[in-house]
Amino acid sequence: MAQMVRIIEVGPRDGLQNEKLTVPTGLKARFVALLAEAGLQEIEATSFVSPKWVPQLGDAAELWAQLPAGTLFSALVPNLKGLERALECGVDRIAVFTAASDAFTHKNINMSIEESLAVFGEILTVFRSARPSGWARGYVSTAFECPYAGRIDPEATAGVVGRLAALGVDEVSIGDTIGAAAPKEVRALHEVLGVEPSKVAWHFHDTRGTAVANVAQAIELGYRAFDASAGGLGGCPYAPGAGGNLATEDLVYFLERSGIATGIDQHRLARASLEVLRHLGREPRSKAQSAILASCE
Ligand code: HMG
Ligand code: MG
Repeated sequence: MAQMVRIIEVGPRDGLQNEKLTVPTGLKARFVALLAEAGLQEIEATSFVSPKWVPQLGDAAELWAQLPAGTLFSALVPNLKGLERALECGVDRIAVFTAASDAFTHKNINMSIEESLAVFGEILTVFRSARPSGWARGYVSTAFECPYAGRIDPEATAGVVGRLAALGVDEVSIGDTIGAAAPKEVRALHEVLGVEPSKVAWHFHDTRGTAVANVAQAIELGYRAFDASAGGLGGCPYAPGAGGNLATEDLVYFLERSGIATGIDQHRLARASLEVLRHLGREPRSKAQSAILASCE
């Protein structure tokens, strides 16, 4: 197995965007700081999306000002207005997001896939000129299944991945938004992807318990970057049935036991989301987190 794997923590963004309760900015900042202290080096902290669409992340600017130094922080931007707000805050790592299903992009960003790619072209031009050494990722959601359109043809997903890569993003994150895929489908998508594994991250949700198996399959195929969310927080407000993301604790446990060092302190990680979970009135969804916490009692 591979020795080096990148973990992109998306809990503060993907985890908190879907919750009924909004987490106060100070608590979000503490959550992010604890994740960084646990050893996570890349954290997607928030989104500069419309606060009318996602009020839970309406405090993006305030949160950004409270982030600690020494970690690579990124934020979602859906349009030029979001980019403008992000640049004003000093953001130098952005993520644009579309999907393999038109029905989903309409619900999620009020655009077709084509429209979204045109907007991202503009975003990337402005971003590259404002931040020549900045970093940009592009998400392709509903890569395997869409809550509105059903199963997605791997060729359709590969097509959108290729279009995003051609726009010049540094990485494409392929999202199993509703956590439907099994390893065989990851392999089938891999076989038609025209983008090299070093430019791809996988973003699995664990709705049906297949996320770690999908990571194992992707590693075997040569991929080295995975998104995950502490405490298994997550979902998507525009994807009914989207359960939690792959829990960072489950991913780290799986990698470490497979002989892949992550540099992450599993005990600190297991505790990092507890205050947020308490605030939300939620039990941890991560099995590894529950087991680690139980072993400390
Ligand atoms: P719209 O309503 O079509 O926007 O929304 P609009 O351009 O018509 O503007 C309407 C109003 O919103 C205007 O204000 C704009 O200024 C304002 P008004 O004149 O009415 O006062 N506005 C904004 N304000 C702040 N920041 C902005 C912004 N843009 C417009 N950026 C829009 C279109 C894209 C804005 C909206 O649909 C949106 O924000 N969507 C985001 C939805 C979202 O965050 N979804 C979750 C993330 S995706 C995901 O979770 C999947 C992922 O995890 C991977 C996976 O799992 O597959 C990434
Ligand atoms: Mg997601």
